[in-house]
Amino acid sequence: MAPDSNSGPALIGIEPTIYPENELTQRPLARAKFLKNTWYVAMPSEELKEGEIVHRTLLNEPVALYRKEDGSVAAIRDMCPHRQVPLSMGTLQSGDRVQCIYHGLQFGADGKCVRNPHGSQKISDALHLPAYRVVEKHRLLWIWMGDKPADLDTIPDYSVIDEAPKLHITDFGYLSAKCHYGLMIDNLLDLSHICFTHAGILGNPDTAETDPDVTVEDDTVTVSRYSEDAETPGMIKMFTDDPELQARGEQWTSITWFPASNLLLNFGACKVGEPRESGTGYMALHWLTPETDRTTHYYYCAARWNVQTDDERNKEIRELIYKMRTFAFADQDMPVIAAQQVAQDSLDHEPNPAKLSIDAGPNEYEKILNKLIAEEN
Ligand code: FES
Ligand SMILES: [Fe+2]
Repeated sequence: MAPDSNSGPALIGIEPTIYPENELTQRPLARAKFLKNTWYVAMPSEELKEGEIVHRTLLNEPVALYRKEDGSVAAIRDMCPHRQVPLSMGTLQSGDRVQCIYHGLQFGADGKCVRNPHGSQKISDALHLPAYRVVEKHRLLWIWMGDKPADLDTIPDYSVIDEAPKLHITDFGYLSAKCHYGLMIDNLLDLSHICFTHAGILGNPDTAETDPDVTVEDDTVTVSRYSEDAETPGMIKMFTDDPELQARGEQWTSITWFPASNLLLNFGACKVGEPRESGTGYMALHWLTPETDRTTHYYYCAARWNVQTDDERNKEIRELIYKMRTFAFADQDMPVIAAQQVAQDSLDHEPNPAKLSIDAGPNEYEKILNKLIAEEN
């Protein structure tokens, strides 16, 4: 058991990877670059309880997160500079200090060493640690790992989770993905896989004919697809009591990527020939945070819009959406992407994927992300 006082959300028996498995020692990935001066989701706010110190590996950095006495969140490197013991094994002391469990060095919320109980009690520069900016927004803890000033305005707008009634929004899900975060963005921005990997639940081959539209705006990429008249996927069938819409309808999906790895999808269906507002659907929120070069923290939730069912059903639907999406990600996407990572790692060169028209979205985001990483460096 890792030295983490938070076991993470109790979901389908999968817990956050605390210390990554270091048997992954393949060649370095050309892709394994992280944008540092941007916001990543460290965890849902509700997971960080007062009095706890929680470990996360984020962008290959060990990070200790805890709540200060005023309730705001501190994040410092989770490695004592003396003998490299995780500070998350230590204790919280008054004044927002963390005390190392091994020899009692104390650190403030800004990462500075504030007490050395030994000998002359001198505090050298080598005893200070990096600290990271953390803010709470949209029920999430956002962390900024870079050295430039954190820009609050660049947190993507996920206000739908602040506004949706509880019965219309699922719990947060979590998966520890055994792949580079880029493979997960490729997957989410590639709407065509829904018709095959998730046939029956989230889509079906009926909707595979049209190529997605891709739009690029202010370093965001949106991929959309539309079907004029297609079989209604299982998820939407349960959102409505209307047998006509349960059978077929007009469908649309659009997903937007925000640098570096946060996404927001809107999915809806209405009866053929009727206005879209008469239909129903959900917003699907995806947050990917690189853990290591080959592992990713994946958080997700979903909020329904234009809810047409009563609250008794909504309670049930809320659980079902959660279960169906968790099944789709954990049992359908994850095995494919983890196997893709292993297969790519088996090559003695960088993979050079053959391109299809459906890759337009993934190509666009990768160009933007590479540009932002190059600018940062
Ligand atoms: S290892 Fe932390 S004080 Fe020695
Ligand atoms: Fe998928």
